[in-house]
Amino acid sequence: MVILGPPGAGKGTQAERLARAYGIPKISTGDILREAVALETELGRRARATMAAGGLVSDTIMNGIVSERLARADTARGFVLDGYPRTVAQAEFLDELVAGRGPLIVVEIRVPLEELVRRLSGRRVCGACGAVVGHLDGAEALAACPRCGGGLVARSDDDPEVVRERLRVYERDTQPLVEFYRRRSTLFVVDGHQSPDRVAEQIARVVTAAAEARRDAAATADLGGRTERR
Ligand code: AP5
Repeated sequence: MVILGPPGAGKGTQAERLARAYGIPKISTGDILREAVALETELGRRARATMAAGGLVSDTIMNGIVSERLARADTARGFVLDGYPRTVAQAEFLDELVAGRGPLIVVEIRVPLEELVRRLSGRRVCGACGAVVGHLDGAEALAACPRCGGGLVARSDDDPEVVRERLRVYERDTQPLVEFYRRRSTLFVVDGHQSPDRVAEQIARVVTAAAEARRDAAATADLGGRTERR
């Protein structure tokens, strides 16, 4: 599965729930990069400035990261990608990577612009356990992480000016992916401007429908094969 949507749409929130519900890994390229920055690895050193400015890390680096991650055994039953692909070049690369592994289910989460800005200005993350705390949890008023008691901070790229740039970059480089996937009918759109539970319910319905359509298509192909053999 691929979760598409602008900054603040709730991709991470929903990817986490999907991963738990289906027992498959959530692969967040943003989380992978933030960890590399925190650990000051070579990747982190190369990505830090781009991320801080709200730009995109190069396709070559991102494709390498995802290629390595999807080669691991825990993705055999499926995976949820959060934040990748983000350009048409990444989407084309992903197609090659998953060839023969069944069609991707792509979910686009749509949220009005003013709500995205509101969510990102209120988001806090725990410096100790990484938990994300939002408006709905009273992030701005909380002094400590409700999960582990660690200190809460704003994500450095949630600065209003950087948010504006991230939204611009989304519009320019990632929005074209919606057309890319719509042309092959693997795209499902959900309304992300409702409670996280309601969004999760909509996504679950979409995933079930996509899985059923896939089973039907496989059964039809099987029937066709048997008829031809007769
Ligand atoms: P990344 O971490 O992917 O950031 P993003 O796409 O900007 O998305 P966010 O994490 O800000 O938002 P989200 O949609 O996940 O929302 P969330 O669930 O957190 O990438 C960061 C950077 O890394 C990029 O800018 C780029 O530099 C680089 N990068 C990453 N991948 C890359 C790639 N493939 N290629 C190149 N560069 C790459 O929710 C947001 C807030 O809203 C939270 O507070 C949450 O609690 C709240 N919330 C969630 N759902 C709801 C709801 N339904 N109602 C109310 N509040 C909600």
